[in-house]
Order: sequence, then C-alpha cells, then structure tokens
Amino acid sequence: MALYSEKVMDHFRNPRNVGVIENANGIGEVGNAKCGDIMKMYLLIEDDIVKDVKFETFGCGSAIASSSMATEMIKGKPLSEVRELTNKAVAEALDGLPDYKMHCSVLAEEAIKNALEDYEKRKAEKKLS
Ligand code: FES
Repeated sequence: MALYSEKVMDHFRNPRNVGVIENANGIGEVGNAKCGDIMKMYLLIEDDIVKDVKFETFGCGSAIASSSMATEMIKGKPLSEVRELTNKAVAEALDGLPDYKMHCSVLAEEAIKNALEDYEKRKAEKKLS
C-alpha cells in the first residue's frame, strides 16, 4: 500500500489557496519545535463567515496537504463550524495520514485556531477604540 493517499499527494502537488491575503483580519502562525515546520493562515472574515482563506507553509508534504485541505474545508463556512474543525477531520478528509505524520495535521488546526483568536482580539480592540 502506498504510504500516502492520492488525496494527500494531490493536495501536496497542487495545494489550494496558497498565498497571502493583504487585508486579512485574522492571522495565525504556528510552528512545530521538533521538525521546525511553520504554517501561517490568513483569514478574511465578514459577517461571521470565512470569505477567503490563504496559507503559507514552510514544511513537509503532509503539512502542505493538511493546510490545503483545511483551507478548502473552512472556505465559505460560518465561524461556528470553523471553530469545530479538528486535525482528525482534516486527516480523514485526506483519506488518512500515517500515524507518525498526524502531528502535521495538528499544525493546520492550530493555525486556524490562532487566526480565529487574532480575529476576535482585533474585533474586541475595535470595539474599545
Ligand atoms: Fe513537521 Fe510534518 S514533519 S509538520
């Protein structure tokens, strides 16, 4: 059996939503201290919906495939759904990752959570000013 599913290979070779959103209102960056990989997520949120999402990942193939799939899973979705996204759901959508690569999908969940926190922080700051 191949180590990686066709979906993993597809999202690794043709990652969706790569890049930067200049006017993003939620940005999250996470890294894995062990492997040194870094993932950055840009969210453009309007009316509690993820209107656009882009990512930059300096990392392994599984991390790139996970970020690509995660962005596809949250694009156009309400924040209530986006908050519930787990790394397990991302890995399942990729038809699985090898056990020792599951931590790569954790980066995607964490980057999105960080970006959501950043969005909430900006929103709160705006209300205060
Ligand atoms: Fe570092 Fe995959 S090996 S995120």
